[in-house]
Amino acid sequence: MAPRHQAPRGTRDLLPNEIERWQWAEAQARAVLQCYCYREIRTPLFEDYELFARSSGESSDVVQKEMYRFKDQSDRDLALRPEGTAGACRAYLEHGLASQGRIHRLWYLGPMFRYGRPQKGRYRQFWQIGAEIIGTAAPGADVEMIALFVDIFEAWGFENLTVALNSVGTPESRRAYGDRLRQWLAPAAEHLTEDSRRRLEANPLRVLDSKAPIDQAILGGRQGGLDPATMPHMMDVLDDESREHFDAVRGGLDALGIVYEIDQGLVRGLDYYTRTAFEVHDKSLGAQSALGGGGRYDGLIEELGGPATPGVGFSIGLDRTLLVLEQRGDGVPEKPGTIYVACMEATRSATPAIVRALRMVYAVDWDLEAKSLNAQLRAASKSGARLAILLGEDEWKRGEVVLKDLRDGSQQTVDLETMVGAIDRILDSAQEAHSE
Ligand code: HAM
Repeated sequence: MAPRHQAPRGTRDLLPNEIERWQWAEAQARAVLQCYCYREIRTPLFEDYELFARSSGESSDVVQKEMYRFKDQSDRDLALRPEGTAGACRAYLEHGLASQGRIHRLWYLGPMFRYGRPQKGRYRQFWQIGAEIIGTAAPGADVEMIALFVDIFEAWGFENLTVALNSVGTPESRRAYGDRLRQWLAPAAEHLTEDSRRRLEANPLRVLDSKAPIDQAILGGRQGGLDPATMPHMMDVLDDESREHFDAVRGGLDALGIVYEIDQGLVRGLDYYTRTAFEVHDKSLGAQSALGGGGRYDGLIEELGGPATPGVGFSIGLDRTLLVLEQRGDGVPEKPGTIYVACMEATRSATPAIVRALRMVYAVDWDLEAKSLNAQLRAASKSGARLAILLGEDEWKRGEVVLKDLRDGSQQTVDLETMVGAIDRILDSAQEAHSE
């Protein structure tokens, strides 16, 4: 016998029972994005490897360790997308969107791929919903982005969210900060993990982002002899313009009543960020607690060969969000009132046409296998249908059908002309009873 296959490590099947919650979450997010006037963009699942290497940053974990890189039959150097911002910016440039208007508000939803160690909330194929504003450096764009981010979570029923906020400055101020951080960490450098020692050279800010317990203990002063009170902060070296920008963003968030906490250790895992950086976490998820994050990337489009064009955006991890919704038992949509059409031997040949006609309006199920009427009725109640339509032999001859309300078992005989009105009355009353 051929070996049974399993989904590749780090990937999952989303089966129909789960998908309903996903569809609900996606629909909620779409509705918010539409009200904010964002327009959807769909970019390829794979791109030139170089696009991601340039945008995420050669020293980032995403590029160093997590990229699904491959050669195609023509020896092209490609990679599965680890995130959506690079593709959106590439498309913006490739199609000259700048000539169609200065500011573009875009959103996307789809799978992303990162070769990490799989664990709860971390997968090798995961889903993101993201939004970007390309074309303005105004702090109001950052505020709008964070408001949109929070409003999507609110539409999913999250309450009392606190956004972690920081400024990572300009590349120059970040370099200056990196130097200070390197100096501060130097006495404890030998105790850091190998990864962090490498980061210390290439990009010292990344050490702050390390999840390794040893690195965390050193940063927290519990090991290695460093005093966390003397740790340098980005704010100390922030250039004046970035500081003004940060203050304006904070003012805008305050005016909207959006709750945030300044987190000076927030550096984000991708290299393209400038100035504003933000995230939200949900502690119930354990180690992989970031539900979403984003920030400003004023140098990215230029880095990709375009004219200097600022941008700001975020992505939300749907797998993690759905884990939280599931833990809470939230987000199971009310099933549309389904109908089960049951027939007898004598009416079986007429049934497919009735079912097909009803399916133009309603969700309709029926028995494909010529089972007995009793078996069909059992299947109807098991399916959760609201209503059964019985095509009895005598009724059918008179041009009538029997409607059976499956909640209380009551029945009525109606002719085909008045059937639709009667179906709607039963489904509507079921709907009302549910919403009371
Ligand atoms: P990111 O922080 O790398 O940002 O990812 C955003 C979210 O995707 C994370 O907060 C997390 O919820 C989810 N995520 C990331 N990796 C995994 C994984 N392996 N398994 C499950 N979920 C995961 C970005 O991707 C940026 N493109 C955000 C952005 C848009 N910045 C500006 N514009």
